[in-house]
Amino acid sequence: MIFWITRMMKMKLMNKAYWERRYIEGSDFWNAKGITTPIKEYLNQLTDKHIRILIPGLGHGYELMYLKEQGFANVVGLDLTDLAARETLEKFPLFPIDEVVLGDFFQHEGQYDLILEHTFFCSLPIALRPKYVAKMKELLAVNGRLVGVLFDCEFDSVDPPFGGSLSEYKKLFCVSDLNIEILEPCYNSIKPRKDREVFIKIVKQQHD
Ligand SMILES: C[S@@+](CC[C@H](N)C(=O)[O-])C[C@H]1O[C@@H](n2cnc3c(N)ncnc32)[C@H](O)[C@@H]1O
Repeated sequence: MIFWITRMMKMKLMNKAYWERRYIEGSDFWNAKGITTPIKEYLNQLTDKHIRILIPGLGHGYELMYLKEQGFANVVGLDLTDLAARETLEKFPLFPIDEVVLGDFFQHEGQYDLILEHTFFCSLPIALRPKYVAKMKELLAVNGRLVGVLFDCEFDSVDPPFGGSLSEYKKLFCVSDLNIEILEPCYNSIKPRKDREVFIKIVKQQHD
């Protein structure tokens, strides 16, 4: 009971200041220090460099940097704070900081062909998960897809990242106009996340 009360209290504090504090304290344990294999290998298959891509909860922005290096023209990185992205800019002067938009995912407007998920879902309060799915559906263009990885394990902490399971995700993404094309154990996770991730590809369908 106390665990849940503490968790609820913490959740209210997960605003811009909360995330900036985590970056400043160096408690950003999710930082993979580079683009991870599942995302990189997925992006390497894409041929159309003009698709509209959104990276919510951008953090250090390694995916954004990679996409720009590969010549993708329409990429937006979205985050409540650009603190982590500015850290990346210090190390990599060619980091595309101009493509970073400051704002709340739930207030963001736009239409995207591809939305990349990488440790953003797990950063949100668990109660917001259905809202996350609804917002993704709104932001995806018809035939647009949400692609990335989700944790398939639990974490013993009152702070994010928060875990989950494949069966939970199956129910969560089972909404009208969204088709779960891939939701399965991830075979090419980075070593520390091996056997602890699922790969997802959720496609928005045409409304009948
Ligand atoms: C766990 S970190 C992941 C960062 C990055 N995706 C990575 O893999 O390193 C979550 C990020 O989401 C951002 N964030 C949390 N809630 C957000 C929201 N409602 N809108 C936009 N960004 C948010 C935080 O500021 C933080 O940078």
